[in-house]
Amino acid sequence: MKKTLFVTGGAGFIGSALIRLLIKQTDYIVVNIDKLTYAGNLESLKAFSHNERYHFEQVDICDKHKLTNLFEQYKPIGVLHLAAESHVDRSIVGSEDFIQTNIIGTYTLLEVVRDYYTKLKSILDTNTLESFKFVHVSTDEVFGSLGDSGYFNEKTSYDPRSPYSASKASSDLLVKAWFHTYGLPIVITNCTNNYGPYHFPEKLIPLVINNALQLKELPVYGKGNNIRDWLYVDDHARGLLLAYELGIAGESYCIGGHNERTNLEVVNIICDILDELKPREDNKSYHELITYVKDRAGHDYRYAMDPTKIENNLGWKPQETFVTGIQKTIKWYLDNQDWVAHVQSGEYLKWVDTNYTSRILDRFI
Ligand SMILES: NC(=O)c1ccc[n+]([C@@H]2O[C@H](COP(=O)([O-])OP(=O)(O)OC[C@H]3O[C@@H](n4cnc5c(N)ncnc54)[C@H](O)[C@@H]3O)[C@@H](O)[C@H]2O)c1
Repeated sequence: MKKTLFVTGGAGFIGSALIRLLIKQTDYIVVNIDKLTYAGNLESLKAFSHNERYHFEQVDICDKHKLTNLFEQYKPIGVLHLAAESHVDRSIVGSEDFIQTNIIGTYTLLEVVRDYYTKLKSILDTNTLESFKFVHVSTDEVFGSLGDSGYFNEKTSYDPRSPYSASKASSDLLVKAWFHTYGLPIVITNCTNNYGPYHFPEKLIPLVINNALQLKELPVYGKGNNIRDWLYVDDHARGLLLAYELGIAGESYCIGGHNERTNLEVVNIICDILDELKPREDNKSYHELITYVKDRAGHDYRYAMDPTKIENNLGWKPQETFVTGIQKTIKWYLDNQDWVAHVQSGEYLKWVDTNYTSRILDRFI
């Protein structure tokens, strides 16, 4: 019998990559639960809109009643929880939606799952019950900022610095508490910065690619020396599936791509590749568009992950290096300018309740 998984936030960047993996490489039935904020884009899953193993439910994770009905209707054997407000800059301008979705939404979902899991215990045999898991997808940003050396791992203390990372840290702690207090079988993953196809063009890599193609400025915060450890989104999606299928309840797993780069290096690499793949008509280099802008408030200096635990215990290994992944990503954006144009024109929002989105979209793209 085919089993059903819930993916929250499946219309977002990482959630849609996970759903593409689940539909193409497994036989799970997938239910995508997404409110469709400005970041939710069903065009990223257009290929599956008529697939009988894929269902979409436009539901806010803060809505306990609707969530309860979905659990009764589909009876999932697992939940991969990705729905969140995810952009640090937006959290600095206004944190309310981050508190609401990331903390209250996760709490609401946990309570609904706890109730559902209690009912499952009375009807399922032990073996089937053991495959139920709640995978909570979190970030390396909950650990704070590193100096020039060292790595985050599962034992690193929490030290969030931005409204975004504080809201994610809060949700991680709630998830841990629901394991210790109620025995809910949870797994937490903390990953580094993702990049790849279908990334909303407010984040550094797609922003730089798309601005360059439109000959706009390429903004670099401060001196561009902040360091991030880049993870190709499909490698992350494979890690999440492993965390669901093989992860031990109550444990957390750090996922990182072994790809540390300064922001300036990232921008320079994108310019080099574009100079080669899509030379400018005026024969100038894309590097000329680089513009240094005022640094982000409280900008963490360095994130870097030690993924030894997920590599050794779950057999995960990234397949992409930054060099191969960024080539694939840039080629995807060159081949999918329609997808970008629909985001920039707002056409992708035709699916959405625009009351929420219109007030915050313009400022960031
Ligand atoms: N992108 C990264 O580099 C990164 C790194 C580490 C961790 N994460 C975490 O991974 C998860 C996914 O990140 P992403 O980059 O795909 O984010 P995203 O912003 O692209 O997508 C988030 C999705 O959640 C949905 N959503 C937001 N609020 C909701 C609500 N109240 N109810 C239901 N759906 C709602 C949005 O519509 C959107 O489809 C997040 O939890 C994020 O914190 C992301």
